[in-house]
Amino acid sequence: MNEAIYNYDDLLNMLDSLLREPTEFWDDFYSDRTKPIPFFANKPDENLDSYFQKGLLNSGKALEFGCGPGRNAIYLVQNGFSVDAVDLSKESLAWASERSKELNLDINFIKSNIFNLEIEENSYELVYDSGCFHHIAPHRRMQYIELVMAALKPGGHFAITCFEEGGKYGGSDISDWEVYRRRNLQGGLGFTEEKLRQIFKDFEEIEIRKMNDVEDENNLFGTSAFWACLFRK
Ligand SMILES: C[S@@+](CC[C@H](N)C(=O)[O-])C[C@H]1O[C@@H](n2cnc3c(N)ncnc32)[C@H](O)[C@@H]1O
Repeated sequence: MNEAIYNYDDLLNMLDSLLREPTEFWDDFYSDRTKPIPFFANKPDENLDSYFQKGLLNSGKALEFGCGPGRNAIYLVQNGFSVDAVDLSKESLAWASERSKELNLDINFIKSNIFNLEIEENSYELVYDSGCFHHIAPHRRMQYIELVMAALKPGGHFAITCFEEGGKYGGSDISDWEVYRRRNLQGGLGFTEEKLRQIFKDFEEIEIRKMNDVEDENNLFGTSAFWACLFRK
């Protein structure tokens, strides 16, 4: 392998190589569907539902990053969106497509790292991310924001849920530099409200709040250990 750094991509790839290779990790993570993982239940995020209840989203095309077993993609299709749902884990996508087939829904599942995606620019009404961004290393953040910006139509929405710092499901409070000293995201990065505002400052802020805690019996998913943010391009 040629280990020279000639351009920005070479630098990003070198930094990726210091950290965990994600595909194998996530395939293994989804190999046992009976694990008591809260987001394994087929229930959409309460914040996503609340945006619909408040009439904040126009239907159209949605792009979901790290769709996992498909619970939010399913909800979006059921609410009138046409959905491109991306994940790098074939195990998660197999589960998601089983679920969508059982419900007779048409979702375009794409097996890819989001950083290798070829998107149609300015074409999406919504980019949705529930729990993927906090697994993205800091050196990929600028590329992530460029991708969201490129995907969205002007006026389109970007919604994200992610770990708070030190939350009950994870959310490490290490600095961005410390990630590379430890060569590890410590199970996923945690964020403060200020940090999220700073990272996504190029978007118009519609709402930044904690997710609401939702009882297990409810048909929505929610935990106050996560931030829920809605922005507009
Ligand atoms: C915590 S899980 C959340 C899954 C799903 N969004 C949910 O809430 O049910 C994070 C997901 O992001 C995916 N993921 C992580 N990094 C990714 C990347 N760079 N590109 C595509 N998918 C990624 C993982 O495979 C995993 O399915």
